[in-house]
Amino acid sequence: MDKLSVWLCNTSPRRWILDFVTKKYYKEYFNVLRGKKVLEIGCGSGLGARIILKYFVPSEIIATDLDERQIVLAGNNVGDAHIIFEIADAAQLNYPDHSFDAVFEYGAIHHIPSPDWQKCLREILRVLKPNGKLFIYDVSIESFSKGVYGKLIRYTSKHPYDKMFRKEEFIDYIQSVGFRLLKRKDGGRYFTLVAEKQCT
Ligand SMILES: C[S@@+](CC[C@H](N)C(=O)[O-])C[C@H]1O[C@@H](n2cnc3c(N)ncnc32)[C@H](O)[C@@H]1O
Repeated sequence: MDKLSVWLCNTSPRRWILDFVTKKYYKEYFNVLRGKKVLEIGCGSGLGARIILKYFVPSEIIATDLDERQIVLAGNNVGDAHIIFEIADAAQLNYPDHSFDAVFEYGAIHHIPSPDWQKCLREILRVLKPNGKLFIYDVSIESFSKGVYGKLIRYTSKHPYDKMFRKEEFIDYIQSVGFRLLKRKDGGRYFTLVAEKQCT
């Protein structure tokens, strides 16, 4: 990730945004993960993991990132025995099938170029238990094409623009691989989804 994105993801406004999004869009699910096991992909500096712990109170969070520097930073930032930070590529997860009750991602999948973002969603499906939940907070290629802010970010930060998903394409794909959409909210630049792994 470029230096601007790393810096943006380590600031107090980022903490505030993730806290706000979690309370606003996921509140009705706060009780379903109490004492359960959760995976976060693309955890960055660990802000999301702390917020997940605060509101959902799972017994264990495995918070992962591809970038070793982020994992070191997160480990230094967050000292909580319920959260374990590990290096992992979200498109190639090293966890057994049906290991987690929920998977979270805050702004990570748009960094993963096609066809790996599709692979990532299939991996998430694989590691989730039946009826396990997926919580998505992300942006799509449209977010970098509209408005002054979107265009500014596009020209100042590094993302896989030519291999990034369109929002509708992403939502269709999630459902095509075996998730049932429980909730969808569009919030300007970003969108949130809650989906459930369907039992076959
Ligand atoms: C915009 S940051 C978001 C960080 C954090 N979730 C937050 O909201 O503050 C995106 C993160 O995704 C990670 N990332 C990118 N590609 C990844 C992949 N294939 N697997 C796991 N993490 C990845 C980056 O290293 C980075 O930490």
